[in-house]
Amino acid sequence: MISTNPVYTGLETTIFETMSRLARQYDAINLGQGFPDMDGPEEIRRLAAEALLTRSNQYPPMLGLPELRQAVAETASRFYGLEVDWQSEVLVTSGATEALSDCMAALLQPGDEVVVFEPLYDCYLPLIRRAGGIPRFVRLEPPHWQLDEAALRAAFSPRTKAVLLNNPLNPATKVFSEAELSQLARLIIEHDAIAICDEVYEHIVFDGRRHLPLIMLPGMRERTVRIGSAGKTLSLTGWKVGYVTATPALLDPIAKAHQFTTFTTPPNLQYAVAHGLSAGDSYYRGLADELQRKRDRFSAGLAGLGFRVSPVAGTYFIVADFSGRDTDEADVDYCRRMTVEARVTAVPLSAFYEAEGPRRFVRFCFSKRDEVLDEALSRLAAWR
Ligand SMILES: Cc1ncc(COP(=O)(O)O)c(C=O)c1O
Repeated sequence: MISTNPVYTGLETTIFETMSRLARQYDAINLGQGFPDMDGPEEIRRLAAEALLTRSNQYPPMLGLPELRQAVAETASRFYGLEVDWQSEVLVTSGATEALSDCMAALLQPGDEVVVFEPLYDCYLPLIRRAGGIPRFVRLEPPHWQLDEAALRAAFSPRTKAVLLNNPLNPATKVFSEAELSQLARLIIEHDAIAICDEVYEHIVFDGRRHLPLIMLPGMRERTVRIGSAGKTLSLTGWKVGYVTATPALLDPIAKAHQFTTFTTPPNLQYAVAHGLSAGDSYYRGLADELQRKRDRFSAGLAGLGFRVSPVAGTYFIVADFSGRDTDEADVDYCRRMTVEARVTAVPLSAFYEAEGPRRFVRFCFSKRDEVLDEALSRLAAWR
């Protein structure tokens, strides 16, 4: 038997893939996978198409096209007052996922501990473990997703090298408060650790909230890596264009990992994303307003069907407790049955926990056309 790396060899097909397959098999509306069913701005897509014909299609600079690095720096200044040197502090990657992979490869050494928050995004643990890191969990529970200060402190140790924070948090839909971020920053500084901040949903926050990047907190500028994604900000998930912002001492090794992973990202997409990020405030407001409207529409529909919907502060997901719908099934079984019988697909919340997650909650993605959301609701109503 040929031995291969155990981190990936033992991994089962994810529940996301299993549910998506089942959705295809039963012709279900797939609200399990997290992507918008409407492509991002046509103007940006046209620019990408034109750039493919009129601009160079050869390797662009390893750090990314200057236009896009400048746009990333400008948006950081415009939205957060974060001043960034685009030449030495910004790197373009093939999606936030590549950025996360580069960070783990470049910043961790075997045995380093990384504090993570459950529920967590599926690539985090394999990437940490493949880099030799050891995850230390802080668990957040629905419906309030409160951060317990004692549990947070207990996750830190003298071996803590990094904290991996997803804010706004998928799938909890939580936006960490300034007080929580301050607590976290204090512990990170106390332990001389690095913050790796996955902020792909930075512009998808609701009810007048403003996203506060951890890098903005006192003492965090030199020890934080901030990651964004055009996939979420411009509703172009298939493009896989991400960007990293960090002080040169952190960015340099991350860029080296990038150099030997993908080296670069398609230049026409980078060029178009640069224009997309420079859109006026109305684009950004429109993105959040439109998703807030969908959140309200779909939450109200679910509540009318007996689901208990957790408050959604950000991201385009809803976590709903289905125990009011006369079943004591576990979430995985409920999601399967909902796909087969109602022809609507969600994903079980427990899949976002390493061990024994909450069993009565499912996650729906609501970044879909209104008619799709309405049809899903009427199928669920008929199922009941
Ligand atoms: C929390 C989080 N991080 C990262 C990603 C991946 O981003 P990208 O498609 O840019 O790799 C996603 C996509 O769903 C996500 O939800």
